[in-house]
Amino acid sequence: MLILGLESSCDETAAAVVADGTRVLSNVVATQHALHERYGGVVPEIASRAHLEHLPFVVTRALAEAGVAPHQLGAVAVGNRPGLIGSLLCAVSAAKGMALSLGVPLLGIDHVQAHLVAADLGRPAPLPHPALGLVASGGHTTLYALESPRTMRRLGGTIDDAVGEAYDKAAVILGAGYPGGAALDRLAQRGDPARAPRRFTLGTLQGDGLDMTFSGLKTALLYAVRGQPVGRGAEARFERDWQDLSEQARADLAAAFQEAAIGTLVAKLRRGFRMMQERRQAPQAIVIGGGVAANSLLRAWAPKLEAELGLPVALPAPAFCGDNAAMLAALAWHRLQAGERDGLDLPALPSGVDVPAGRA
Ligand code: KG4
Ligand code: ZN
Repeated sequence: MLILGLESSCDETAAAVVADGTRVLSNVVATQHALHERYGGVVPEIASRAHLEHLPFVVTRALAEAGVAPHQLGAVAVGNRPGLIGSLLCAVSAAKGMALSLGVPLLGIDHVQAHLVAADLGRPAPLPHPALGLVASGGHTTLYALESPRTMRRLGGTIDDAVGEAYDKAAVILGAGYPGGAALDRLAQRGDPARAPRRFTLGTLQGDGLDMTFSGLKTALLYAVRGQPVGRGAEARFERDWQDLSEQARADLAAAFQEAAIGTLVAKLRRGFRMMQERRQAPQAIVIGGGVAANSLLRAWAPKLEAELGLPVALPAPAFCGDNAAMLAALAWHRLQAGERDGLDLPALPSGVDVPAGRA
């Protein structure tokens, strides 16, 4: 079963062809970083226009690289939630047109849920379930109980910044470079938390729950780098900035930040594992997805957690950590196997499936 996936929820236009939910025949991603960089964030209108321009090229290339003709496709999968509404509409409209003209099923896929099957890509078979899932990206840091790849229940998550967002801000505070998350990770690998002028506490919050916080960590790093503010109001100035620190001091502070940020995720993965066990839904695997799954320290933790908890701790190959369309095709395969499909009235929705009722 060959499935074409299409993705345009934010600032990546992506298309991929995946066979039987795990075998990636092509994975094309056109990023728009250069278009948005000077605005310091994604401009929705620019993103939508760029998706329209990129989509035909990206789809054609994904089919060509896979060596697949359109009539060989068994289904078309599209990320239809959550995301920027104007961006989502681009791939959703394209997918509807293709599914209609080819006479194959259309499947609308939740982007966040799809991050949790990305670790299946390139494996001989999908990971076993029930599983504990962690999505750690620029917009999400959430733990889920996954009865199957199609059914997820939110267990807890960040109460403020997403961990990837904290990485991006920490990279600015430390002058680590752009894109921030990967640059901070590289800087941290040259440092040692034990040598840093200060260590940071985990953002695990009090109690036994699965909620966490990353905004305090970011502020603590800011003060560690810049010192105390001098003066009041508009006149207030910090004692120093990152340019006044040695390369080694910056690397050591980056390592201390990384120790606390990733340490928080690891602590909550352990807690989530026990919580599912206590609820008689013992996880058969831990699956992690999202851009932060590319992090070197988190990846180094995976084999240690596997040995400690006695189950596979699966991270996607680096190409499938960030936004891509292959993960959408992978989840669509599970939905098709279960007899699910969507109609041509499939909506594009700004919020995802795990949003509690009554909240937009
Ligand atoms: O999943 P993703 O590509 O996009 C969404 O946010 O949906 O994730 C991007 C996030 C960014 O915040 C980026 O800073 C973070 O993933 N990231 C990393 C690393 N690579 C990307 N964070 C920590 N370490 C990394 N190596
Ligand atoms: Zn994403």
